[in-house]
Amino acid sequence: MSESVRIGFIGLGGRGRGQLGELLNCEGVIVPAVCDKYEDRALEGKKIVEEKTGVTPDVYIDYKNLIARDDLDAIMCCTTWITHGRIAVDSMRAGKHVAIEVGGAASIEECWQMVRASEETGKFCMLLENCCYDRTEMAVYNMVRQGIFGEIIHLEGGYRHDLRDEICLGRENRHGRLFNFQKRNGELYPTHQLGPISKVLSINRGNRFVSLCSMSSKSRGLNEWIKKNKGEDYDLADFNFNQGDVTTTMLKCANGETVVLTHDCSLPRPYSRNYVVQGTKGIYQEDGDGIYLDGITPIKEGDWMHEFQHFEEDGYLAKYEHPLWKKYSQDGIHAGGHGGMDYLVISAFVESVKLGEKPPIDVYDTAVWMAVTALSEQSIAMGSMPVPFPDFTNGMWIDREPVRRGIFCLDEVCNEFFEGEEK
Ligand SMILES: NC(=O)c1ccc[n+]([C@@H]2O[C@H](COP(=O)([O-])OP(=O)(O)OC[C@H]3O[C@@H](n4cnc5c(N)ncnc54)[C@H](O)[C@@H]3O)[C@@H](O)[C@H]2O)c1
Repeated sequence: MSESVRIGFIGLGGRGRGQLGELLNCEGVIVPAVCDKYEDRALEGKKIVEEKTGVTPDVYIDYKNLIARDDLDAIMCCTTWITHGRIAVDSMRAGKHVAIEVGGAASIEECWQMVRASEETGKFCMLLENCCYDRTEMAVYNMVRQGIFGEIIHLEGGYRHDLRDEICLGRENRHGRLFNFQKRNGELYPTHQLGPISKVLSINRGNRFVSLCSMSSKSRGLNEWIKKNKGEDYDLADFNFNQGDVTTTMLKCANGETVVLTHDCSLPRPYSRNYVVQGTKGIYQEDGDGIYLDGITPIKEGDWMHEFQHFEEDGYLAKYEHPLWKKYSQDGIHAGGHGGMDYLVISAFVESVKLGEKPPIDVYDTAVWMAVTALSEQSIAMGSMPVPFPDFTNGMWIDREPVRRGIFCLDEVCNEFFEGEEK
């Protein structure tokens, strides 16, 4: 295992700047080069590296010049949704492992290109899906693997986040979301909950999605927000946004399970990924942090409605804490964005670069999770017709190589790596 790794960084919007800081918190990481197509942002990235490490990185405006360097082990890319795929492919073809921020694919071809580039070059492509490392998601996953919910039947999840200001001020803030909401209509941001859901379902390892269909509501939220906040005369006040306010997608698995995803970012509402895991022995649901287990959750006499218990307050989180989170709680590392999961997903990436081994979220996961966007756009365009889901493993999902076990593994809970850790 290498003690240190050299990682080039591309994309220094709000997310990129935060993630660059997180990356530099990882032991042994050197960032010799940063890039953004806007020079002022690239220079902000340079400043972050200087302040954190005392070393001045080279600055690039064209990412192709950065990835052409011969002194980099990997690339981390935090650019816009429609640029992740091509930067990932170019990076692998330039001989570097790559990690990309989350988003959906613009086309199925883009997903195939990532798969082929990874298979042909032997370089990995990891989607930085931080929600796979969320504390609650990991505890629920631990319970799933212990069979506490019985056989898994149905899951739900979503990205339900009031982003009206971020979307509508896209031009003023040079932010990528606006143009997608103007032009596209689909499940634009599927991976936050689809990542954890896919790991529960063992997608690409004995299971796969076979089809999906999507439906979008009408679009009103952005126009109302613009009229209220920018005035009736603002040029987008009556713009006919293609993206519906709420998009619902249903997926069917080869092993019979069903999944419902919801994309909901242009109406007023509190944040939720509305995670639901339901099996033959019980259910977890994020909204209300509820859990109900057959024969375990108390039922009051005569109460035919059956009440949920509280996942955290009633002790389930503590009882089923994932060993990775136990370790990080004990080590006192709750640092960084989104309660610690950003640090964990980047640590997983850095560990894979140091080892030169496949990451816990590999190119097949990346392709499948991102493909949902392009497939849902197709389904909606065809009147919510079901569309077939490509098999990016080309059949290997029924006979994959063994899982690489380790502390960051998302395909199993690898307790043996934490033995002797508990104090
Ligand atoms: N995982 C999370 O919790 C989380 C949170 C926020 C954002 N994100 C994701 O992170 C990504 C970035 O988000 P953001 O809010 O910073 O977006 P943004 O649009 O503000 O920033 C993207 C940056 O990429 C740069 N860029 C685009 N194309 C480029 C190219 N070809 N070469 C060099 N630079 C290029 C842009 O100039 C911009 O500075 C998005 O995919 C977003 O969905 C993830």
